[in-house]
Amino acid sequence: MKRISILGSTGSIGLQTIEVVRNNPEMFQIDALSARSSLDTLIEQIIEFRPKEVCIFEEKHEKTLKSRLKELGLDDLVEVSSGIEGLVKISEIETTDILVTSVVGMIGLLPTLKALEKGKTIALANKETLVTAGHLVMEHLKKYSGQIIPVDSEHSAIFQCLVGEKESSVEKLILTASGGPFRGMQKNDVAKMTRIEALKHPNWSMGQKITIDSATLMNKGLEVIEAKWLFDVDKDDIEVVVHPQSIIHSMVEFKDGSVKAQIGTPDMKGPIQYALTYPERLHSKEPKLNFHTLKDLTFEKPDMEVFPCLRLAFEALEQGGSSLTVLNAANEVLVNEFLKDKISFYKISDIIEQTIKVHDYISNPTLSDILEVDKWTREFVFKNVIN
Ligand SMILES: NC(=O)c1ccc[n+]([C@@H]2O[C@H](COP(=O)([O-])OP(=O)(O)OC[C@H]3O[C@@H](n4cnc5c(N)ncnc54)[C@H](OP(=O)(O)O)[C@@H]3O)[C@@H](O)[C@H]2O)c1
Repeated sequence: MKRISILGSTGSIGLQTIEVVRNNPEMFQIDALSARSSLDTLIEQIIEFRPKEVCIFEEKHEKTLKSRLKELGLDDLVEVSSGIEGLVKISEIETTDILVTSVVGMIGLLPTLKALEKGKTIALANKETLVTAGHLVMEHLKKYSGQIIPVDSEHSAIFQCLVGEKESSVEKLILTASGGPFRGMQKNDVAKMTRIEALKHPNWSMGQKITIDSATLMNKGLEVIEAKWLFDVDKDDIEVVVHPQSIIHSMVEFKDGSVKAQIGTPDMKGPIQYALTYPERLHSKEPKLNFHTLKDLTFEKPDMEVFPCLRLAFEALEQGGSSLTVLNAANEVLVNEFLKDKISFYKISDIIEQTIKVHDYISNPTLSDILEVDKWTREFVFKNVIN
């Protein structure tokens, strides 16, 4: 029996993690859950799984949550907290074996560092944390006895391809990308695309932020940075290949020219379950690949002219240091503005590029530098560019 805590249990990854837990009651027990503001879903989860702790991030909901738990007679069983302190409290719970980090954005940074300090195993979906402060997370991983198992399907695929292999045998990592809803389109047509069109992802049903990141290809850029940190490879040894069918989840090329691919249906419950059961594999009730009906598997080069966010991510990775924090923070703000129909599609890449250019670069930022740069970037994007 493994005890699981989930940061962001009401989101796309959180709900699928809950489903994996629900399907395997003899394997998993929930210690703690958290949401930003989705009270009703969080309460349903509390009723079903009886966690000992929950965090509702937005403080204004804490009182309501407590009184609703009282009405249900659950107030003595569940401890309620809010804010970043609440997330950190959950990440440090002594009894938790695996912390699933499925919040969206760099808000996951402090809880991730704290969980590693406690030697926890983290099933990591929250890629923004690794993008903004990958070097700190990796230092923590080395210093304390924690473990990170990737949940992102590409990184899970690479992780699986590397089982039993020597680090020195790896030539390069090949990350596959669906190409998003605007694949194959010309730049002047993509420029007119709105939130509604950008939210129609061809293969995956995901949270809104990652769906927009998939349309700009920033998601692949964030994943390149995530892969650099998780697998300790140089940026030049990471290649992105557009594979519209999303059947090959990613690949590893070895020194002898052999390539290993991890393939399966595009369903996040696969990598989530693997992260929770690793090194074991559990039976899954989900539909399997059928090779008799599987048609073409095709591959293309990503178009960095039409999708400049991927280029910007590679460039930020080349610069390293605070450029990565600026890339991430500016993208978080701009995607949010795009989702509110306040800016057009290419404003996202244009403003990220400008902001990286003008910021005061720090080559090896500390945690407090990162928090400062993140704050500066958000304010800069709001004050000088959006308004
Ligand atoms: N979705 C996927 O298929 C997928 C695949 C690979 C990687 N990922 C990564 O996994 C992470 C989560 O993605 P998602 O698609 O599951 O996002 P999502 O559907 O938007 O869910 C985000 C979760 O985090 C909570 N949350 C949001 N902002 C928060 C804040 N400031 N403080 C505390 N909690 C907050 C949300 O609570 P509320 O419900 O109350 O808003 C929700 O539970 C992202 O880093 C994403 O890149 C996702």
